[in-house]
Amino acid sequence: MSRRLSGTLYMPGDKSISHRYAMLAALAEGVSTFENFSDSEDCAATRRCLAALGVPIAQDQTRVVIKGCGRNGLRPATAALYAGNSGTTLRLLAGILAGQRFESALTGDASLQRRPMGRIIEPLRQMGAEIEADGGNCAPLRIRGGPLKGIDYTLPVASAQVKSCVLLASLFAEGTTRVIEPAPTRDHTERALESFGIEVACRDRWVEVKRPAALHAVQGRVPGDLSSAAFFMVAALLLPGSDITLPGLGLNPTRLGLVRWLQSHGARIEVETGAAVNGEPVGAIRVRYRREFLEADTLTICGDHVPNVIDEIPILAVLGSQLRGGLIIRDAAELRVKESDRIARIVENLQTMSAMVVEQPDGMIISGAQALHGARIATFGDHRIAMAFTIAGLVAQGVTSLDDPACVRVSFPDFFTTLEHALSFGND
Ligand code: S3P
Repeated sequence: MSRRLSGTLYMPGDKSISHRYAMLAALAEGVSTFENFSDSEDCAATRRCLAALGVPIAQDQTRVVIKGCGRNGLRPATAALYAGNSGTTLRLLAGILAGQRFESALTGDASLQRRPMGRIIEPLRQMGAEIEADGGNCAPLRIRGGPLKGIDYTLPVASAQVKSCVLLASLFAEGTTRVIEPAPTRDHTERALESFGIEVACRDRWVEVKRPAALHAVQGRVPGDLSSAAFFMVAALLLPGSDITLPGLGLNPTRLGLVRWLQSHGARIEVETGAAVNGEPVGAIRVRYRREFLEADTLTICGDHVPNVIDEIPILAVLGSQLRGGLIIRDAAELRVKESDRIARIVENLQTMSAMVVEQPDGMIISGAQALHGARIATFGDHRIAMAFTIAGLVAQGVTSLDDPACVRVSFPDFFTTLEHALSFGND
């Protein structure tokens, strides 16, 4: 029995953008309203943390209304702020808390407590904050904030979360703050800051915020999440006869790496750009199955391209196993410090499904044209592993099941219903 995807699919609001809008709206003067705000558990963690800091937030389905407290209006929380599974919540909020004249504690779930925090502690200390961390590098963090000073900071890793942490701290700093990146990363914070009225200067690899003024409230719709769309795009490329359209998606160039890479290798993908909303380009993407695309020679993902597709690598690895020449992933050691060690988890699960894959310190070598066999998938509570291997299950022979399907709520609570809605079966 064959399977295919068809129809118009609506993606939840972009998770990265939703976090940033909520945090900046909390610091703004006036009331901000957002439609299509991400309904993910990660963004719920951000909302709960902000509410615990005294920010009035109301939510009606995916409409969120935030009454800004002004730059100096946050109040100390009565308990440790809990970021759950969300690295973005913890790292970005740490930048804001570093500028407050009170002490805060920040923590998260077991996965988040294993992830490296030295990368934000170092620049925040240079700016003048006092921070204690478990073993020097991990949450729980204790942050004694206060008046900060601007710094010139070269990121040791290409990370939008670290860049954003420093840029948010710069809102409380005397003088200019400049961040230099080793490779371009998503620039949602820069665009959001400008929408909220902050002057930001961007050149090729650096971003600068001068002594900032007050932030004003913002209204608008959050674009659909391209990283959520990636699972359906790849599924449509793998299942013969598929034809899907994804309207209202965020088309920020720092997130379009996957689409551009697939197009450059012959995938049948059309992008129609509409008007930008709050500085974020938005539009529709149509993806159609094309057998010739799967006949590609060995493809590689490496170098500066990696930060642009970092969250899409689990589903790209599944795609790689179905390309005739396979896929090589290099320069992606950052995957080892995501919600799980994604290099190990992808390799292990592809092997469980009978694919040939060789693990490398910074990536993997995936053999092509693999006949996948249905298997029990160990997600390690990682939402992107769960969704990527659900798609792998659609091209596998036999039954595939997940040990923890509910973990998809971290980014995409409606993932399975959206998939069921788009999936149809035939006898050809
Ligand atoms: C994010 C940045 C990336 C990405 C994460 C979201 C953000 O993390 O993997 O899912 O919203 O800034 P890093 O900054 O750790 O690369």
